[in-house]
Amino acid sequence: MQSFWHELPRPFFVLAPMEAVTDVVFRHVIARAGAPDVVYTEFANATGWVHAGDRAIAGRLIREDNEHPIVAQIWGGEPGDMEQFAQHCATLGYDGIDINMGCPAKSAVKSGGSALIRKPDVAIAAIQVAKAAGLPVSVKTRLGYTHVEEWRDWLTTLLRQDLAALTIHLRTKREMSKVPAHHELIPDIRALRDQIAPDTLLIINGDIRNRAHGLELCERYRVDGAMIGRGIFADPFAFRAGKLHSDDDGSGEQRKKALVGLLYYHLELFDHYQPQTGRPYETLKRFYKIYIRDFDGASEVRDQLMHTTSTDEARQIIATL
Ligand SMILES: Cc1cc2nc3c(=O)[nH]c(=O)nc-3n(C[C@H](O)[C@H](O)[C@H](O)COP(=O)(O)O)c2cc1C
Repeated sequence: MQSFWHELPRPFFVLAPMEAVTDVVFRHVIARAGAPDVVYTEFANATGWVHAGDRAIAGRLIREDNEHPIVAQIWGGEPGDMEQFAQHCATLGYDGIDINMGCPAKSAVKSGGSALIRKPDVAIAAIQVAKAAGLPVSVKTRLGYTHVEEWRDWLTTLLRQDLAALTIHLRTKREMSKVPAHHELIPDIRALRDQIAPDTLLIINGDIRNRAHGLELCERYRVDGAMIGRGIFADPFAFRAGKLHSDDDGSGEQRKKALVGLLYYHLELFDHYQPQTGRPYETLKRFYKIYIRDFDGASEVRDQLMHTTSTDEARQIIATL
């Protein structure tokens, strides 16, 4: 199937799906800071949606027409529900469906997420039914459930499913995020992909700091794309090619200004989408450390922000910077 995946630059850079982070608001902030080539939604549960409708997915699938290509990430353990949910994502205008087969959280592992590593029949069925929605289907997974050595069998199973793309978070479920990602396995994984499914794009994930780091890994190992998650917490400009400001005098003043500017934008978008997302003000606070950092007095300002109760109060504080 011809799709947006074939039109991407090589290598390409992907914003990782992150629950309670990569919603429509933060995706716009990142697009302004330095746009990724592809973005994913937070994961949304198929069975929850089938039984309780939009209420169950709490704004996770809100998107805008200026966000392309955008992939809806779904998860679950009931292929029938995943089929219906994938159809729904297609009607919402998504460009692709990604199935989460890597989430280690207890609530997810009961039925889906990384539990599918141990239920390859369900994983295969889920991929097949998701394809019926007519969108390109990709999978995001880990190396294995318990042991790193599981990777070859598990990825062989997935690569036989004619996927548009396969993202590997280079750790096992058991490793959570507690050990360094196994970048050393990339050459073997790429060789397996070349052998079984040369048309499936291979995306690496785990501990990739920014675009330059991703570029280095993709070029060294000749993989198609790099997915960056937590790198944007350390640097929201992580996807940007080139320097933030050519006139930066090294004092950090330009960077501080740019970060505060992004925070204003984040606050504005939060207010705009709040009636739709229903997300309480408290959920914004986790983002403040992304923007208010690396200057004298930053921790005091962050502390003040943590005691605010509204976006207006937050604006008053950052207006002094
Ligand atoms: C706060 C947070 C939420 C996450 N939510 C999801 C999710 O909804 N779906 C998913 O596939 N992975 C999720 N992940 C995993 C990331 O997509 C990514 O695989 C992981 O963080 C490793 O990449 P990194 O080192 O670039 O962060 C989440 C990670 C974090 C830190």
